[in-house]
Amino acid sequence: MKCDHSLFLFPFALYICHYMDKIKTILITGGAGFIGSHVVRLFVKKYPDYKIINLDKLTYAGNLENLSDVVNEPNYFFIKGDICDADLVNQLFELHQITHIIHTAAESHVDRSIANPMEFVTTNVIGTCTLLNAAKYFWQADFTNHLFYHISTDEVYGALGETGLFTEDTKYDPHSPYSASKASSDHFVRAYADTYGLPIVISNCSNNYGPYHFPEKLIPLCINNIINNKPLPIYGKGENVRDWLYVEDHANAIDSIFHGGKKGETYNIGGHNEWTNIDLVKLLCKLMDVKINRTVGQSEQLITYVTDRAGHDLRYAIDASKLQKELGWKPSLQFEEGLSKTIDWYLQNSAWLKNVTSGDYQHFYETLYANR
Ligand code: NAD
Ligand code: TYD
Repeated sequence: MKCDHSLFLFPFALYICHYMDKIKTILITGGAGFIGSHVVRLFVKKYPDYKIINLDKLTYAGNLENLSDVVNEPNYFFIKGDICDADLVNQLFELHQITHIIHTAAESHVDRSIANPMEFVTTNVIGTCTLLNAAKYFWQADFTNHLFYHISTDEVYGALGETGLFTEDTKYDPHSPYSASKASSDHFVRAYADTYGLPIVISNCSNNYGPYHFPEKLIPLCINNIINNKPLPIYGKGENVRDWLYVEDHANAIDSIFHGGKKGETYNIGGHNEWTNIDLVKLLCKLMDVKINRTVGQSEQLITYVTDRAGHDLRYAIDASKLQKELGWKPSLQFEEGLSKTIDWYLQNSAWLKNVTSGDYQHFYETLYANR
């Protein structure tokens, strides 16, 4: 009797496929930053079978203290380095057999991009292309079990008027050097998919807030200044609108898209949570007055209107219905609850806040706000 080996081999092949799919070596870039550290923490703890390699240059925004609770996990590895360093990136691909990338590393602050655009071109555009080149080179024999996940921002879509929402089909119209560099990187990611067949996915998220947020951005800057009784600088009339999302909700959305998103697709992520800057800062003052035992209304007196940001986008707001419909994701926290948790974290982590606001921060702060 003739034996059909394929019948015996079939379950074995299935097992190998299943196993291959489970083994992932993920290069997370910028994992010592604000959002990156939440993504690293989530993946290291939730997926002990995955090997997580965090590549971060440790710029002013990168801080290994953000990851003190995962540093000893056996599936976590840190490499200090620059995503623009092609030799290093190639070595990492070769040494660790990287199968997936979650690319969060970026220069991320609009005001810094206005002061120094070239750093944004270098890291956000050239850095992204360096990673794309490595992924293309090392994966091209078979793209099947690979993914280049690019983390982007809603700022690539430009500014909305008083109504409307950004969808995945909204035309790109960036205004700041930051958003122009992010838009450029998004285009390169799509170009590598269209030209070389690189398996990619992109998500564009609205403003995040939460623990480990560097105090140059509106919410942590105001928390820090309220604690220290310093002026709360409001650009222009404070009427600009942002759509705020708790950072752990963003990390959960990234997890959903990483595992369930369709290759080649874009997903918008947002909080359905629009606030003018002035209303947000007033709410923050109210919550903080209670938490630090001040008379309600006291912190609000710190509000100071200053010269507007050049090219200041009026309004951002995200339509995240595609993500909700396809992958069932939605934000878990109401804004007041998220803000309250965030304030508590900053009050309980005064050493972290002190460390990141010493040294260079003082110089940055004085230079940026001196002429406003
Ligand atoms: P962040 O500035 O807090 O952190 C950036 C990290 O990247 C830092 O750890 C820094 O050291 C690292 N980095 C910078 N240049 C590098 C380089 N050349 N090589 C290696 N590492 C480098 O930024 P974030 O706010 O956490 O943003 C992360 C990503 O999410 C960015 O791509 C940003 O565009 C995007 N995003 C941010 C927001 C937000 O509200 N913060 C919203 C939507 C999207
Ligand atoms: P920011 O946190 O820098 O995020 P983004 O510019 O990426 O949206 O700013 C959020 C909003 O707050 C934005 O409209 C600018 C405004 N803003 C101030 O009014 N004062 C400040 O000191 C800062 C940093 C921001």
